[in-house]
Amino acid sequence: MPPKPPSVIAIYPGSFDPITNGHLDLVQRGARMFDTLIVSILRNDSKLPLFSVEERMDMLREVVDPYANVEVDCFDGLLVDYAAARSATVLLRGIRAISDYEYELQMALMNRRLRPEIETVFMMANEAYSFISSRLVKEVFGLGGNISGLVPPSVEARLRSRMPKTRQREAE
Ligand code: PNS
Repeated sequence: MPPKPPSVIAIYPGSFDPITNGHLDLVQRGARMFDTLIVSILRNDSKLPLFSVEERMDMLREVVDPYANVEVDCFDGLLVDYAAARSATVLLRGIRAISDYEYELQMALMNRRLRPEIETVFMMANEAYSFISSRLVKEVFGLGGNISGLVPPSVEARLRSRMPKTRQREAE
């Protein structure tokens, strides 16, 4: 096992379609814990995203701006290979409920098998965000529900610009 590097770089990977306040809470915690935190979007995602990678990167950049040691990036291919290419030794993932655990454990152990020198670190977001997911935010918003407080205001504005006019009137 290699020794702790003088400066610890962590990758916080995900789809971020779009970033929620739960993700942002984890960014804040990660920024306090690691020397550099790279929030990185998977490019070749099989899920059909609402926002393009470029739009998601723009939204991320807007909200991580206050954190000097946080940067935004995107990646293709295996996460651990990307992490190694960025000299990162930590993968940061958020766990909300037990239901997240099984999938996260599988990924963490597979990533460890692929590159044992890279460690996955799990963090819990504030419990106030434990029920938020990008998928539910999009569904509720698309059906005219109120999502204020669940995503950053700049993200809500982008969602609003995507929502059909009829739904917008219902939401007001
Ligand atoms: O936010 P998500 O969609 O749950 O993030 C999943 C993500 C991007 C972390 C995962 O799908 C991933 O790492 N994909 C990259 C391809 C890869 O390395 N696959 C093997 C994972 S064990």
